[in-house]
Amino acid sequence: MQNCAIELKNIRKTFGPVVANDGINLQINRGEILCLLGENGSGKTTLMNMLSGIYQPDGGEIYADGRKVTIRSPHDAFKNGIGMIHQHYHLVDVFTAAQNIILGLDEAMDIGRVNTRVKEICDRYGFGIDPKMKVYDMSVSQKQTVEIVKVLYRGSEILILDEPTAVLTPQETDKLFAVLRNMRRDNKAIVLITHKLAEVMAVSDKVAILRKGRYIATVNTKETSPGELTDMMVGRAVTLNLDRPKYDNPEDKLVVEGLTVVDREGIKKLNNVSFTARTGEILGVAGIAGSGQKELLESISGLYPVKSGSIKFVNTDKTTVELVGKTPTQIKEIGVGMGFVPEDRLGMGLVGSMGMTDNMMLRSWREGRGLFFNRKKPQDLADRVWKKLDVVTPSTEFPVRRMSGGNIQKVLVGREIASHPPVLLTAYAVRGLDINTSYAIYNLLNDQKMGGSAVMYVGEELDVLMELCDRILVLCDGQVSGIVDGRTATKEEIGLLMTTVGGKEA
Ligand SMILES: Nc1ncnc2c1ncn2[C@@H]1O[C@H](COP(=O)(O)OP(=O)(O)OP(=O)(O)O)[C@@H](O)[C@H]1O
Ligand SMILES: [Mg+2]
Repeated sequence: MQNCAIELKNIRKTFGPVVANDGINLQINRGEILCLLGENGSGKTTLMNMLSGIYQPDGGEIYADGRKVTIRSPHDAFKNGIGMIHQHYHLVDVFTAAQNIILGLDEAMDIGRVNTRVKEICDRYGFGIDPKMKVYDMSVSQKQTVEIVKVLYRGSEILILDEPTAVLTPQETDKLFAVLRNMRRDNKAIVLITHKLAEVMAVSDKVAILRKGRYIATVNTKETSPGELTDMMVGRAVTLNLDRPKYDNPEDKLVVEGLTVVDREGIKKLNNVSFTARTGEILGVAGIAGSGQKELLESISGLYPVKSGSIKFVNTDKTTVELVGKTPTQIKEIGVGMGFVPEDRLGMGLVGSMGMTDNMMLRSWREGRGLFFNRKKPQDLADRVWKKLDVVTPSTEFPVRRMSGGNIQKVLVGREIASHPPVLLTAYAVRGLDINTSYAIYNLLNDQKMGGSAVMYVGEELDVLMELCDRILVLCDGQVSGIVDGRTATKEEIGLLMTTVGGKEA
């Protein structure tokens, strides 16, 4: 077929005993957005890494424009017009956008010409980046843009994006999708990996499904539904529903009063925030991205300096401890656990070369409980996380760096949850997780709640917040614009609170 850019035939890839891909056939067409869908560890990244020259297949063939090709390196991939934006970015922090874009090219460093071409690319597809900006000053979304421009600068006609939206806000995602549509209009071939079915339905032309390393089918997006896609991914009909059990005697656990924090420029990030988190309750935190969600959890856990106000932890005997002024380690010891899912999973909280057990130990050791020489407890914890969340790994000693993206995430979240803190703070806990695992996490949060923890859940998806949480605190521009009952609130009501403080437009 004329518009077929890449064809994969019967591809197989193993890592020792792990069969990551087997019998995979895939066709990638120009002028189309193809979504690659599959559960965590189903082999999506591995398959695409064979197109980008990171791995070579153990069996099968790759055709580019009908010619059989061998892709031995990222350089070979570029020669064949293939560029990939990876799950973890590869930028040099101290370089500018332009310097990163031409990194590794045998091109004379004529920065004027580079800037002009970068600007051309940006104008053509609708990106906004400043070529002179240093990477360490960039947001995740800006870094991602640099990675995409870098690939386009090399003349790529086939773009592969591995979970680009996992780290973006809904607004940033919309912008990215506009760019992808412009690329499609330009007859480029685009492969997008995402776990969010709403995104698949909104942006793709076709969907290819992998299950446990095997190819299932490619379907037209217009002719399928989220339910059918889920069934194909999982291999059986799944019903996803969330319980919202009621806890009998909720008690105040965390009392926050008049909390105000300012950033380095002196701008108020939280303004006079007051609320109470109770035992046996999931308190959701909603708001437009950047409304103070991150600062709220960070100031409770001692990672963000507090300007004024108080955060009191209520002990079981009703005495209270003031958390403001304490160090993150002291706050953890008092009983506040933070299941914060960072944008860079391997950068924060996990050591890639170590296995699950050692990563569990790392946490216990940080807590200063002297568990460093006792492997039994972390081993038990690792076993529990492994089983409960179905972590795909040959053993708890297998280096986490070599696990799939979603499985790394399970270790990170599972470790916090499994330590049963009296107060559990979670943010973006299901980023990069497939639907089943997301529900497993929601159920674990419910277990924590019914076990008497006070759970705070910062999330992006309003539907989930409304299904899971007992109460929802809505932030708008650093202020509490309302606290609503999760059982009775409507989407419209919450949407309005997200954009207005006390009835006034923010
Ligand atoms: N370098 C490696 N060494 C050993 N095993 C690996 C390596 N890379 C991937 N695997 C294994 O191959 C399987 C497929 O992983 P892959 O990263 O392709 O999954 P994925 O579909 O991208 O998942 P996710 O949605 O979680 O990102 C997993 O079991 C993973 O542990
Ligand atoms: Mg992956």
